[in-house]
Amino acid sequence: MNVASAPPSATPDTAAPTLRLSRPDDWHLHLRDGAALASVVAHTARQFGRAIVMPNLKPPVTTAAAAVAYRQRIMAALAQSVAPGQSGADFQPLMTLYLTDRLPPDEIRRAKDAGVVACKLYPAGATTNSDAGVTDLRHIDATLEAMAREGLLLLVHGEVTDSEIDLFDREAVFIERHLIPLRQRHPGLKIVFEHITTKEAAQYVTEAGPLTAATITAHHLLYNRNAIFLGGIRPHYYCLPVLKREEHRRALVAAATSGSPQFFLGTDSAPHPAHLKEHASGCAGCYTALNALELYTEAFEDAGALHQLEGFASHHGADFYGLPRNSGHVTLQRTAQTVPDSLPFGAQAEVKPLRAGETLRWSQLN
Ligand code: DOR
Ligand code: ZN
Repeated sequence: MNVASAPPSATPDTAAPTLRLSRPDDWHLHLRDGAALASVVAHTARQFGRAIVMPNLKPPVTTAAAAVAYRQRIMAALAQSVAPGQSGADFQPLMTLYLTDRLPPDEIRRAKDAGVVACKLYPAGATTNSDAGVTDLRHIDATLEAMAREGLLLLVHGEVTDSEIDLFDREAVFIERHLIPLRQRHPGLKIVFEHITTKEAAQYVTEAGPLTAATITAHHLLYNRNAIFLGGIRPHYYCLPVLKREEHRRALVAAATSGSPQFFLGTDSAPHPAHLKEHASGCAGCYTALNALELYTEAFEDAGALHQLEGFASHHGADFYGLPRNSGHVTLQRTAQTVPDSLPFGAQAEVKPLRAGETLRWSQLN
């Protein structure tokens, strides 16, 4: 990475500082399916070389064959929206399976052979399309053993679903009740604690050793829970795990900018039709794929840590997954841009990107 001031020139734009990074990857992404997929895939492909694609479709992706078919639909949607040779045409989706109480250990071998890289654990009922998720982690020990053997990673949505537990405490309680015992039962399994939101999670990962890592979203680095209530309820800032207090946001920024290889970029960009977010019972998920890199760059700049962005965005995730780092580059410039108010989403709906109608300080150039 280099942070450089371009030489003075006639236009203010070319005088703005630029930031050149190895092409980053998104290690946690929701692409959806069908017409919705076709609306969003190019946004991610423009910024990222690869993305770990979440399997929480309806029905969920629970077999190697379903993952292969989903991958083909993603590649077809990409080919429709990005011309060969254009930026993003070489984007690669990395596929995952959705763990249920009944995913057989044999399926893990077939998944490995089909190029699947990880399985996602949704505690049943934790979030969008998680009804078929795991009801008790001990039900899937044999499958987790097969994953460790085959080198598939376990990606964890780390929240308890117990309605007795306060919504804001669900991640911290999950660590104590489930993650610590799971880590002990499967010491050889690579685990990614996804979209961490608390100081407890950041601390746990730091202390858990080199086979445990975490993704962090741009919105959890930039916002605390006040953002959901500022001047009225703001559904586009509602996601799960929900934004937390400022002290947690600060702990996440410290982890992301620490240079530790255990923390890396995962947007959790999760598009929903705007009318279903602006609803009496609004869906969880922030749509950040359109400008994810610009959002992360703001967060790192605010922390005085632009020099740590490339490791977090482009190196640590690939290294943890045991995949090669990307060879290409992206360039960002410190030139303001306005985020569109909304974008088409599927046949009839629209999706509202995070910060819709507001200004971002950075813009991707290529
Ligand atoms: O906010 C979220 N949205 N959190 C999740 O865990 C799922 C995601 C979705 O699929 O919409
Ligand atoms: Zn997610």
